[in-house]
Amino acid sequence: MHCYGDLVNYLCCGMILAGLGHIVHHRKTQPSYGRHMELSLAARMIPARLAWFIQEMPALLVPLLLTLTSHKPSSMGKYLLLGTFCIHYFQRTFIYSLLTRGKPFPLSVMVSAGLFCTVNGFLQGHYLLHCVHFDDEWSADYRFKTGLLLFYIGMAINIHSDYILRNLRKPGEVVYKIPTGGLFEYVSGANYLGEIVEWFGYALATWSLPALSFAVFSLCFIGPRAYYHHRFYKEKFNDYPKFRKALIPFIL
Ligand SMILES: NC(=O)c1ccc[n+]([C@@H]2O[C@H](COP(=O)([O-])OP(=O)(O)OC[C@H]3O[C@@H](n4cnc5c(N)ncnc54)[C@H](OP(=O)(O)O)[C@@H]3O)[C@@H](O)[C@H]2O)c1
Repeated sequence: MHCYGDLVNYLCCGMILAGLGHIVHHRKTQPSYGRHMELSLAARMIPARLAWFIQEMPALLVPLLLTLTSHKPSSMGKYLLLGTFCIHYFQRTFIYSLLTRGKPFPLSVMVSAGLFCTVNGFLQGHYLLHCVHFDDEWSADYRFKTGLLLFYIGMAINIHSDYILRNLRKPGEVVYKIPTGGLFEYVSGANYLGEIVEWFGYALATWSLPALSFAVFSLCFIGPRAYYHHRFYKEKFNDYPKFRKALIPFIL
């Protein structure tokens, strides 16, 4: 398939602007799901498992369809796409979604997240399969190796932290408790820290603008969310550990 370079550039700019716009728009409140949800009576709610499954699925399906329908995809690009982006979204779609014990999701949030995952799945897949050409030496490059290492470390932190959060609740319970263990000993947003490290690692390993745009978007979206979670814990629990930061251990 032909590389739609202009479209890729527009989508990258759009994603970075959307991330920055999100920070400005939500500087006082957080997007309406989970603990920060302000329910209007008219809001249609979807069970959390179904919502996560439906909204995340396109980020896996679209790159896989692009891989299957490409005649001569770049083999390093294909390897990177399947070994990083698709693995992450396989986990999110088939494991995280089906195990979550979270609150129901507003339909509007699910639809916007699903649209974002569709566009992002196309952007990452199309770029890695049809636009970029990696040299034969790329697999020996320090950016490739460091990036992959960061990606897998970040993914492990993210999955472990989400596991800790999930197990704070018994089935059917809807309460918030103080998370402990793993990187939660240092930050309130350990799952978000893992995810941000993951996507910056992916950006380094692919050395690509689409991956960097997604990493920046993720930072803009879940960075502030970590701050609001941290503030929620400090307000709710008098015994919340004083030493713990919001997102970056010892610093912020
Ligand atoms: N790349 C991106 O831009 C992006 C954007 C959004 C999310 N994500 C990822 O998606 C995953 C979920 O995100 P999220 O915003 O839903 O995370 P979250 O607010 O930390 O919640 C994760 C799950 O744990 C539950 N939970 C959180 N804190 C809890 C506590 N103290 N006690 C009991 N249960 C608790 C939540 O329940 P409730 O739902 O009932 O609060 C939810 O089911 C994360 O791994 C995140 O990194 C990525």
